[in-house]
Amino acid sequence: MRYVFGNWKMNGTIAFTRDYVKALLNEVRPATVQVALFPPFTALSNMADAVNGSFVKFGSQNMYFEESGAFTGEISPAMLEEIGVDYVLLGHSERRHIFNESDELLMKKLEAAHRHNFPVVFCIGETLDERKSGVTKDVIKRQLILVKDLLRLGDLVAYEPVWAIGTGVTPTMDEIAESISWVKDYLKTDIPVLYGGSVNKGNAKDIAAINIVDGALVGGASLKVDEFAIIIKAFGENN
Ligand code: 13P
Repeated sequence: MRYVFGNWKMNGTIAFTRDYVKALLNEVRPATVQVALFPPFTALSNMADAVNGSFVKFGSQNMYFEESGAFTGEISPAMLEEIGVDYVLLGHSERRHIFNESDELLMKKLEAAHRHNFPVVFCIGETLDERKSGVTKDVIKRQLILVKDLLRLGDLVAYEPVWAIGTGVTPTMDEIAESISWVKDYLKTDIPVLYGGSVNKGNAKDIAAINIVDGALVGGASLKVDEFAIIIKAFGENN
């Protein structure tokens, strides 16, 4: 099984969600690819209705670790449970860098997600400065060290180099293979590891051809149904 997940970030209204899912269900019927969509919180409930009974799973882009209380603007695990999300995405580079989420906070979020039995998509990745200074492997380890022994069957890790996100620039195929194998060597489990960062219809085939890449976490290109469908098909063909 491979995985093609679409992270819509702060894009996508309720109306967009309905139209998108209808179009996607007409466009693809993947047998060997697990597809999941991560819309904003405001569209999660509608997403639940739209994908109900189909091959598409869905999840939230974030979650707070407390159960309830005075945490203005945050969303609790129980709230997501009520909607019935299939996954919780944690540690996205935008959460880490724009909203200063630390490794310690992300560990608490992961524990809370597990308490509620949500599989987690845990994101990691180095900045351009870190890559240039040759510390990519150390960064990957630092981001995984607190959660390494907590990750469990059903969870996924997404390796997304920060400098490849939304830039149209990707690492070479060899570099992607190398980083993903570092992650796998470090985790020493069968947890699937996805690649993310400027995956599009033009490079999906090449990325999918890398055997150890278990799938893709797609940002911008997941907002266009036809492009996302091409990416899903590319990963299906390379199983
Ligand atoms: P882009 O595909 O837009 O580069 O974003 C990747 C990403 O951050 C997915 O989580």
